[in-house]
Amino acid sequence: MSSTPLAARAGVVRESVIRQVLAIESQLRRRGVDFIRLSAGQPGLPPDPRVLNFLAQLLKEKPAQATSYTPTSGILELLEAIASDLERYGGFTLDPLQEITITEGGAEATFLLALALVNPGDEVVLFDPTFPPSVGAFQLMDAKVKFLPVSVEDGYQPSLEKLQEVVSRNTKAVLIITPDNPTGRILNRDFLKGLGELAEDYGFWIISDEAYKHIIYQEVHHWVYKEAGVPDQTLVINSFSKDPGMPGFRIGYIYGPREIISQVRKLKQFVTLTPSSIAQYAALYYLTSGVKEEYLRYSLEIYRKRRDAFYRAFKKAVPEAKTLFPQASFYFFVDLQHYLANLNMDDIAFAEELLKEQRVSLIPGSPFGRQGIRHVRITFVTEPEERLEEAAERIAEFFKRRGVL
Ligand SMILES: Cc1ncc(COP(=O)(O)O)c(C=O)c1O
Repeated sequence: MSSTPLAARAGVVRESVIRQVLAIESQLRRRGVDFIRLSAGQPGLPPDPRVLNFLAQLLKEKPAQATSYTPTSGILELLEAIASDLERYGGFTLDPLQEITITEGGAEATFLLALALVNPGDEVVLFDPTFPPSVGAFQLMDAKVKFLPVSVEDGYQPSLEKLQEVVSRNTKAVLIITPDNPTGRILNRDFLKGLGELAEDYGFWIISDEAYKHIIYQEVHHWVYKEAGVPDQTLVINSFSKDPGMPGFRIGYIYGPREIISQVRKLKQFVTLTPSSIAQYAALYYLTSGVKEEYLRYSLEIYRKRRDAFYRAFKKAVPEAKTLFPQASFYFFVDLQHYLANLNMDDIAFAEELLKEQRVSLIPGSPFGRQGIRHVRITFVTEPEERLEEAAERIAEFFKRRGVL
């Protein structure tokens, strides 16, 4: 091993446990072992075939255009299509030239915002539990990360009083995810309004990750840019990975005040230079061809049935598990305290043993925060109903064999 030291920053974050589980899965797959996959946070259906046909044709007919570098901000047609889409669904108007910028997915969007906004020592507040890479992006900037705990008893809705205790004059940003990964809850309007008032009082940024804004089964998505009432202090992260079903294309966007968007564009030049060209054309077609509305109807119907089937089977098979019936997104976040405490087992060991013994893969909860200890995240969109019901039985079998069910 080289004795030349690495940057201290490289040691600040750990490899995601989610990626570790995915690595074990790929070993199993190579050995031809069948398992029920409730782990990856990705859509359960391929993209609409019309998007793929459009791309195939574009690559054939206009190969140079389809594969060229594009502006760092993204192509103008896509920026305009996103502005129209936000006006249509969210009811607000943005300047596509200055208030929107394309990124390589929500992941790069979060990283670029952390890079643009945070100085070492700045406080950034996130919920606990939360999507781990969001935390990592701010830790890499040497932010002081603070957490606001939320619990299943409150439907994972945060309390404004508690938020008030956590924020201070040193708070640079509060990051929220709505609809949520891992809990499936949609933040309510009262909280968003109160958050906006606090942002105004304390002068912090609201960073709102709305990657799942269209993956809604009940209630409605509340658009934070509008509902918090402080658009000058709100930056929204978005993704084409979830509702269009194309996570591998790596495309998303940020919208917000122009002075931040221009900084993000400048910084992006040093990370990925420009967004992927073909992904932009796929996104453009998805938004402007009418495919989006049809595909959403089709996929949400399937996902809803999967959610309901798993919930029914799991409630019956594992009755002491506690979980929110998710209003949105792809996940059940499940409290297994009752069983795992009796077994004196943590959630990481549970996930590993369950995969080895019962061939069910899921994600341990503790990487999502302290509130995730002895929890697991279960993705319900990636398997058909019978396999989801079978997974519930296998999880029950795991506990029965050990005498705790
Ligand atoms: C809340 C949230 N934000 C961002 C991402 C990253 O998505 P993308 O594929 O757009 O980078 C995910 C992926 O699971 C997510 O759940």
